[in-house]
Amino acid sequence: MEKIIINGGVPLNGEIEVSGMKNSAVAVIFACLLTEEKVTLTNVPDIIDVDVSLDILRHMGCEVSRPAAHTVEIDAAGLRGGAAPHELTVKMRASYYLLGAELGRFGHAKVGMPGGCNFGVRPIDQHIKAFESLGATVTESDTTVEATAMRGLKGGSIFFDVVTVGGTMNAMIAACCATGDTVIENAAREPHIVDLANFLNTCGANIRGAGTDTIKIRGAAKLHGCSYAIIPDMIEAGTYMIAAAATGGKLRITNVIPKHLESITAKLEEMGVDVTEEDEAVVVSACERLNNINLKTLPYPGYPTDMQPQICVLMCLASGESRLVEGVWDNRYRYVEELKRMGADITVNGRIATVTGGKPLHPARVRAVDLRAGAAMVIAALAVKGKTEIEDIRYIERGYDNIVGKLRGVGGRIQKIVEEDIF
Ligand code: EPU
Repeated sequence: MEKIIINGGVPLNGEIEVSGMKNSAVAVIFACLLTEEKVTLTNVPDIIDVDVSLDILRHMGCEVSRPAAHTVEIDAAGLRGGAAPHELTVKMRASYYLLGAELGRFGHAKVGMPGGCNFGVRPIDQHIKAFESLGATVTESDTTVEATAMRGLKGGSIFFDVVTVGGTMNAMIAACCATGDTVIENAAREPHIVDLANFLNTCGANIRGAGTDTIKIRGAAKLHGCSYAIIPDMIEAGTYMIAAAATGGKLRITNVIPKHLESITAKLEEMGVDVTEEDEAVVVSACERLNNINLKTLPYPGYPTDMQPQICVLMCLASGESRLVEGVWDNRYRYVEELKRMGADITVNGRIATVTGGKPLHPARVRAVDLRAGAAMVIAALAVKGKTEIEDIRYIERGYDNIVGKLRGVGGRIQKIVEEDIF
């Protein structure tokens, strides 16, 4: 069993470098299947979700190599169409991008129902609606989704009923090899949507409007290879910003795009934290006393749901009552029970959490119930004096590149322990 042990209560100070964005990298990796030419990706985070994505590609006949740290080469010339290995696709949510990519390249895709963190029901009806708008026939069973467009995809009009990041990216991937024009309305506007569009355009696609709620795609018959650098991970950056504030420290967080962090910066400033923007860095200095705040998570440019558990820890450390509303997922408060083990006073009612701050937190043995929940546990453990043990850390390693090493580099007393299973 692997655990993280943290001896907290020490301010984090120094410089920490952010890696490439997980949620962009996994989409771009699957989008590489659209071309038969070699693609070189740089600034790729070294995380489990990237490993699993690359394993899926290898199993499907692609040549994949990692010639240097954070660099990946993908040659999908030998890609075999057909079902992807189920035991791998169920491990991660992003395997749904295989549907868009294989459909775009072969006119047919069959993928195991995607897995991922458990935030309640995670439907893919909007992805399916998009593929159908492009002329595909989609059938679902309990375990698989199969999409077919025997004469190839045709451009069409897609209007999403909900703002969906994955749905928007999947529709872009599929549509850029369709014949004719596609318009996506009510599109998500996250920075990784723009990153995927930039990648596809570098491969010869014609996508306009990514980053707004209307995306127009002119189908391109064949995409070519390219070299492309993934954007920095705004959620990793935000996590370290909150870690600085929670531990009473000062961190210069580098390799970031400060514009992507604006909603996080605004909320930290409201709490009294000092944030200074540089060209490609932010400097976060903790304050004496954190203010309570109210916050609702929303699609970009709103405050990100993937930063919700982390800021909840800061609310626990603030004085007074804070109110948190989860605006994206039905059930993203499973971590609250774990924070309560550390003394947090939080009441959850549906999508609303009321946090009574100022109650002393103490170390405990806790679990990472999902990726960002795990990040929140790390922050809480760094903030409180004494030894906290975090179990189920594979969730954290799905999305944070070298979190233990990076935090040690700025003074965190954190280590990963591998215990032999005695049974
Ligand atoms: N939704 C539908 N139907 C769909 C798709 C989504 O109803 O077909 C709903 C969802 O149930 C949810 C909302 O729409 O209530 C938004 O879901 P979205 O599709 O935007 O989420 P996703 O693409 O599955 C990605 C990230 C998540 C992140 C969300 C929201 C990846 C691999 N995952 O998920 O990241 O929370 O966008 O920003 O990109 C994480 O990194 O920790 C993480 C969970």
